[in-house]
Formats: sequence, structure tokens, C-alpha cells
Amino acid sequence: MVFPITRLRRLRKNENLRRMIRETRLSVDNLIYPLFVTFGKGVKDEISSMPGHYRFSVDKITEEVKEAQNLKIPAIILFGIPEHKDEVGSEAYNKCGVVQGAVKAIKSATPEIIVITDVCIDEYTSHGHCGLVKGDEILNDPTLELLSKMALTHVEAGADMVAPSDMMDGRVGAIRETLDDNGFDNIPIMAYSAKYASAFYGPFREAADSEPKFGDRKSYQMDPPNSEEAMREVLLDIEEGADIVMVKPALPYLDIIYRVKHELGMPVAAYNVSGEFSLIKAAGQKGWVDEERVMMEALISIKRAGADMILTYFAKEAARVLTA
Ligand code: PBG
Repeated sequence: MVFPITRLRRLRKNENLRRMIRETRLSVDNLIYPLFVTFGKGVKDEISSMPGHYRFSVDKITEEVKEAQNLKIPAIILFGIPEHKDEVGSEAYNKCGVVQGAVKAIKSATPEIIVITDVCIDEYTSHGHCGLVKGDEILNDPTLELLSKMALTHVEAGADMVAPSDMMDGRVGAIRETLDDNGFDNIPIMAYSAKYASAFYGPFREAADSEPKFGDRKSYQMDPPNSEEAMREVLLDIEEGADIVMVKPALPYLDIIYRVKHELGMPVAAYNVSGEFSLIKAAGQKGWVDEERVMMEALISIKRAGADMILTYFAKEAARVLTA
């Protein structure tokens, strides 16, 4: 049936009609709020390239998490910025490290909120790479042991879920085995499965001071033009025991989110990364776009592509819009 019998505009006439035929809905249930925790006391230090985001010391982060909980955000993900960095990222798996301390404090102040921890040593190494380094090579297998130790210290501190973001081969299996051997067979793994070597991580690297001191991450993170390879990465992580698989970044990779969701039917997370946030923020602050509408449109596109969960620096702002 074609025009003039069919007129698709009939169902767009007013907001109530549009509400009735709306296909995709974003809910606060879909949001995961990323937070940066650092050393010291009383610290709430704004990240210049990410307006509204801060490096919090442990005592300050609990207040922020309470606010997220009041907004009904179900989960946070923690990134650590340690006082000392070294070649082997020792602070990453220190039982008394910043993330381990923050997890304990958050779980005692707000026990219901899901606390996910990022598992990767790049914020803790002096060279800024996600693995151990020999010459100019990033070593795979020796790094697995450190990642497993790091994940275990997070879970021992009370983390509800761990999220390896390093892109070493075999990390999900290694972490699963370590957690199981230590009685944590009920702790899920959210794997950063299809993580691309992206320029959209720029503001995060400023926030975490984790820019590699030599070379780049292209020998371990994925090449942006590849899609088949993303499916292989995701499948391997599922075989190794991933409970949730992630695509990262989100907006430039909506096709990957779509494929992963529709071909594999796994719970899918998408990371709306720092650069995606900062571009919208900056244009909004200049008055070049309507920031709130662009934010909501970007988030709904990620949901429509197939993401069940969205890690986003817009979590609080979106939650306010969604619960208004
Ligand atoms: C690695 C990690 C990165 C991000 C999350 N985990 C940075 C990187 O791979 O360089 C980036 C997140 C963002 O840009 O928001 N620990």
C-alpha cells in the first residue's frame, strides 16, 4: 500500500501518538556511571577536558555514589589513579590501593549499588601501557597473572563485577580461573571484548594520566576498520567465560553493537567514551547544539543499536531527564 492510502505522518501527529508507537526506550536501568578515584583526602579535582567529572579521593567518592544511587543509577565503574606508578603497575594489585579502598568504602556506605571495577594496569604503569613491557614490546602472557591478581584484590575488597579492559589475549579465562579458584565463582565478568585503538579516549587519558610514554596501543587494541575480527574477539571472550560483552567506543561503532547483539544474543554493554562525551559537552557549552537533546539522541542510538547497558559520563544528567 502506497501514498496516498499510506501516510506515515498520521502516527507522528502529536506526542501521545508518538509515545504509543515508540520502539526503543532508554531507562535509568541501562546506565552505568564511570568514576575516577585517587589518593589523598578531601580531593575533588575537576578534569578540565570532562566538565562535571572529577578525580575523587576515597572519602569524597562515597558522596558522589550516594547521589548516583538517589538518581536510581544501578551501577558504577571505578578507575584508579595511584600515587605512585612503576614499571610493573604494583599499585594495581595492592590490597590497600585506591580502588580497593574505594570499593570497601562504597560497599559499606551504599551496599546495594553495583560496583564494577576496571581491570587494566595502564593507569598504574610508568610507561602507560596495558601490559608488561620488554624493550618496545607489550608482553601478553606474563601480564595475565597481574590482571588476575588485580581482579582478585578488587573482588576481595567487595567488588560485584570486574571489567578487564586491557585487550591481552586470554585475560578473561585467566581471571575466571583465578576468581573460581578463590571461591568467587559467582562474580560476573564484563569483558571489554571489542575495544578499538581509538582517538576518542583522549580526555580519559588526561584524566587518568595514562597516555603511553612510547608508541601506541595498536598492537593490542583493535584496528577501527575491522568488524569480523570484533566478532571473533567477542566469541573468544564468551568461550572464556565472559558474562557481559562490551563494545567500545559506542557511537562510531554502532554497527558492531548491532552485530554482537543480533548475532550472539549476549548481554551487551557499550562504552560511550570520554571523547564522545567531551565533543557533545564542548559544542553544548559553545551554544552550537542543544546539549540535552544531543545527549539523549546519542544515548538512544546506542540502545537502538542493541546495547543493554551504556557506560556513560552523561549518566547523572540522563538519569535526571529520564526520571523528571
Ligand atoms: C584502559 C581504559 C581506557 C578507557 C577505559 N579503560 C583507556 C585506554 O584504553 O587508553 C577509556 C575510557 C574513556 O575514554 O572514557 N584502562
